[in-house]
Amino acid sequence: MSHHNWMDDFGELDDLSAIPRIRNVGRDRARKGKAGSIKRSNFAPDGVVEPADYEDLLSEYPFTYNASRHERVWITESLSGFYDQQWFTDVLRQIKGGKEASVYQCLASETLEVPYLAAKIYRPRRFRNLKKDHIYREGREDLDENGNVIRNDGLLHAMKKRTDFGKQLLHTSWIEHEVQTMHILHQAGADVPVPYASGDNAILMSYIGGDEMAAPGLNAVDLEPEEVRPLFERVVKNIELMLANNRVHGDLSAYNILYWEGEITLIDFPQAVDPRQNRSAYPIFLRDVTRICEYFNRQGLRISARRLADDLWTAYGFRLTPEVHPALLDDQDEADVAFWRSQEKTQPAQLANRRRR
Ligand SMILES: Nc1ncnc2c1ncn2[C@@H]1O[C@H](COP(=O)(O)OP(=O)(O)O)[C@@H](O)[C@H]1O
Ligand SMILES: [Mg+2]
Repeated sequence: MSHHNWMDDFGELDDLSAIPRIRNVGRDRARKGKAGSIKRSNFAPDGVVEPADYEDLLSEYPFTYNASRHERVWITESLSGFYDQQWFTDVLRQIKGGKEASVYQCLASETLEVPYLAAKIYRPRRFRNLKKDHIYREGREDLDENGNVIRNDGLLHAMKKRTDFGKQLLHTSWIEHEVQTMHILHQAGADVPVPYASGDNAILMSYIGGDEMAAPGLNAVDLEPEEVRPLFERVVKNIELMLANNRVHGDLSAYNILYWEGEITLIDFPQAVDPRQNRSAYPIFLRDVTRICEYFNRQGLRISARRLADDLWTAYGFRLTPEVHPALLDDQDEADVAFWRSQEKTQPAQLANRRRR
């Protein structure tokens, strides 16, 4: 496989039918105690509201941030539930706006232990632009806005047929996957924002930065020479924590690592994949590691991305190229079972997969 094919476009992964299918397995439901769910507000999500209703909106949700009318309606639609539940008392400023998601600095309620929260609000088109989304979605179950697996046939059908409602469900499922990954990683002690609450269109998490300025991405920071290696090691430690918790970031780069007062925070997890369930997990992982190494190479470190990725991947019990794919073995066949036992030490993750089928 040439280095640039998969880097650009997952070129060779297009034909997934060539690889035996990994059967889906039940996942540990790591989310405990959903923090809060947003209610649908009465305001039109497309920003079209009557002048009198707009006046009501301004007085009911008197946010400091001076947004355009359209953005104001959108923010209120997405965050009013969190506001009503007293997670925050004001929206102060936009940290980053974009075609796909916008992030806002909010003033936390006095009852919380932190001064600010960050609210990430998604645009409807966010996941329609994602190239080859089926690669990331492979093997994972869809989640509703409470983080529960969607098992209702009618809803599954709507998603498959991409009806308007189905698209909304898919959209929310990406967000819930992001929140779930953040919960898992936070509990594992990784450097990620604390997820406080989520709704069908937004996530409320801890804010990284100072009063006046949010943390920049690593890409925008000139590191001191002496902090380059420790920060690299910190990133690798986080990558290892992710592997230990069966997660590959899927969009890791210096842009998605915030830097504040010498500390790093990894963000932006909707496309994270589970190596036990996703046949593209290794190439996705290799791309993540390559981007990180490219950044640190520019900062003066000499590291081989390929070797680092291979070492980490195998150290956590994942196989680079499964000699015999579990889907090809019959668990009713004694010889197959005996063979599988002999593989136990080298591929524990896939074995776990196999056992739970
Ligand atoms: N918890 C946070 N604290 C401070 N800034 C944040 C936080 N989360 C995101 N940001 C800012 O918002 C930007 C976009 O967030 P991100 O999750 O990367 O979404 P996307 O890249 O999909 O638009 C980040 O690059 C960062 O500048
Ligand atoms: Mg990002």
